[in-house]
Amino acid sequence: MTKVYVWSLATRFFHILLVLAVGLAYILSEVENFLSFHVALGYMVGLLLLYRIVWGFMDVRYSKFKDFNLNLRDLFAYMINVFGEKKEYVGHNPASSWAIVSMIVLALLAVVSGTLVYGTQEGMGVLSFLNATIFKDMELFEEIHEFFANALIAVVFVHIAGVVLDKVVHKSDAISSMKNGYKNVDAKSVELSLFQRVFGFIWIGSSVLFFVYMLVSPSNIMLEDANKRVDYKVKHELFYEECISCHTLYPPYLLPKESWITMMNDLENHFGDDASLEEEDKELIQEYLVKNAAENSTKESAYKILNSIDKKGIIAITKTKYWKKRHDDIDDEVFKNKNISKKSNCKACHKGIEQGLLNDKDIKIPK
Ligand code: HEC
Ligand code: HEC
Repeated sequence: MTKVYVWSLATRFFHILLVLAVGLAYILSEVENFLSFHVALGYMVGLLLLYRIVWGFMDVRYSKFKDFNLNLRDLFAYMINVFGEKKEYVGHNPASSWAIVSMIVLALLAVVSGTLVYGTQEGMGVLSFLNATIFKDMELFEEIHEFFANALIAVVFVHIAGVVLDKVVHKSDAISSMKNGYKNVDAKSVELSLFQRVFGFIWIGSSVLFFVYMLVSPSNIMLEDANKRVDYKVKHELFYEECISCHTLYPPYLLPKESWITMMNDLENHFGDDASLEEEDKELIQEYLVKNAAENSTKESAYKILNSIDKKGIIAITKTKYWKKRHDDIDDEVFKNKNISKKSNCKACHKGIEQGLLNDKDIKIPK
């Protein structure tokens, strides 16, 4: 047996970049203010996958889809023989062939559904326009996205387990071959044409550059934000002046119509304060609040607050189930911090809230 070059540099580079991007994106999905980072990684994964699909149709020995063994009978034979005698596979064995195809499909579905969540829920990205129309499906898309992401990670772990098992039982050199490209087998080496080399270099390089570009220049169409700043002072000066004097200016979309009406009709007993107004002013502000209440907003927080209110007449945002759920992880001590002092001081952590912005990427808890 001789040393044979099986995995080209492009294939190995693709592999490691995909591992890093998917891994990081998965880990960071839990951290709200890393959303842009998560999305940038997602787009990069999308580009890498497209590359891999095109590569699979090019005439690259061992990497092309034609060289994958997707025969089910071979897969079962392989599985049964996991602990048995070693059988040599030059490229992908039946199990890894299946794993790779499943991973490509699941990762693509995760990227597409992720773009849909980003568009419907956040009003951001290439599909940001969808927030205005099908925002009510945001939770469905989120579930679908999580499903594909979790399924992908599950296959990744099965794949890793298979590779490790192969190494332990059969002393396979699959792992080292993904690093140096060589396997000890009797077969032909992979040879890339000049076109294939250039193609691989440019496409993979562009995926990385694209990712870097999105980080350094976030105001691009891929991260496009349909949530525009609202200048409430210009929109409704009276509302602005009256309702910002004691606390954060709460955007009207954070409560439903009924809550605003209840609140506005009892301003004398406003959370222990007297915030009463002239009847005429009260009417004008109430009209504005009702017109822009949660029912009339496509924002994630509006939609979710509205759906979480079961008790009618709730007038504190901080008493809604959705608010409580989203702030559940924050320790009570944090709210007592001198830069925050109380839960209702939203602007301490959400710097854009008084311009109507509650994007995940703008959340920052002061020290
Ligand atoms: C005289 C001071 C004062 C004025 C004026 C005032 N508020 Fe308040 N508001 C309070 C206090 C005090 C609370 C209790 C929470 C807090 O301590 O910040 C509160 C709480 C709220 C809450 C609930 C916040 C939560 O905990 O979720 C909303 C909503 C609210 N106010 C809306 C308004 C609106 C709309 C106006 C303008 C019509 C207004 N407020 C004007 C003093 C005021
Ligand atoms: C101590 C800082 C802090 C304060 C004060 C605070 N928040 Fe938050 N808020 C957060 C953090 C952190 C998250 C993200 C939680 C998570 O990861 O789900 C969050 C999430 C949210 C979300 C969900 C984000 C989204 O895109 O829908 C909304 C809505 C929200 N906050 C509204 C408010 C409002 C309204 C107030 C004031 C009544 C407030 N918050 C006060 C820290 C704070």
